[in-house]
Amino acid sequence: MAMLEVTDLHVYYGNIEALKGISLEADPGQIVAILGSNGAGKTTTLRAISGLLRPRSGSIKCAGKSLVGVDAHVIVGMGLSHVPEGRRIFNILTVDENLNLGGYLVRSQPRLIKERKAGVFKLFPRLAERRMQLAGTLSGGEQQMLAIGRALMSDPKVLMLDEPSLGLSPILARSVLRTVREIAGRGTAVLLVEQNARQALAIADKAYVIEVGRVVLQGEAATLASDERVQRAYLGGFEAVGTQAELGKNN
Ligand SMILES: Nc1ncnc2c1ncn2[C@@H]1O[C@H](COP(=O)(O)OP(=O)(O)O)[C@@H](O)[C@H]1O
Ligand SMILES: [Mg+2]
Repeated sequence: MAMLEVTDLHVYYGNIEALKGISLEADPGQIVAILGSNGAGKTTTLRAISGLLRPRSGSIKCAGKSLVGVDAHVIVGMGLSHVPEGRRIFNILTVDENLNLGGYLVRSQPRLIKERKAGVFKLFPRLAERRMQLAGTLSGGEQQMLAIGRALMSDPKVLMLDEPSLGLSPILARSVLRTVREIAGRGTAVLLVEQNARQALAIADKAYVIEVGRVVLQGEAATLASDERVQRAYLGGFEAVGTQAELGKNN
């Protein structure tokens, strides 16, 4: 059974249909990339899944349970965590305090908070060094690590990332994406939205290409990476930052 199963999702902004029947699936441990140009509907898809937007129709299931109409904070408790576009961390709180907020559902269990935080620090040692630093004073890459770390504090079964490499240097982008591979390696299903198709396909297992609210192509990441239509539309002009082997896809 897929950990996340989205079927025929339709989402409107007023009278405008932003998603015209999106279907996708993610299995435990899988990285599923969602590609598409600006305005295609990638962010809308993630926002609908995490309960921030209510779909007009369609079904969304996490571990077999329907998420449609469920409040966003309840959805987090059901195992789905969303790192939004532009990493909304709390600048005037410390790294540590931001992580605590990510664990608010288990705030009465300090042992669990401590355990999960240790897991985040293992994944991102730089955050451990800076745990008492105000989040607003972190570099862009460190802020992205913190946003991901905060999402991991709820111990999600499904982690959704909206353009995690945006604005990062190629080296940092590669390091963040390598960590995403590590997270999936622990059994989490990852939905990865990326404008940089080359990097996304290098670490993903499979991918969906969205154009104006519809899935126009889907398949194994390696197959899509060599697809002429994908190359023409999404892989032209991007700088290659890593091969699959370099990004640790197979380990
Ligand atoms: N809050 C909003 N109100 C109205 N239209 C929106 C809103 N957010 C996004 N849209 C429109 O929905 C479409 C999909 O947007 P979005 O999901 O943000 O695309 P992407 O993340 O792929 O760039 C675009 O045409 C965009 O202009
Ligand atoms: Mg977007």
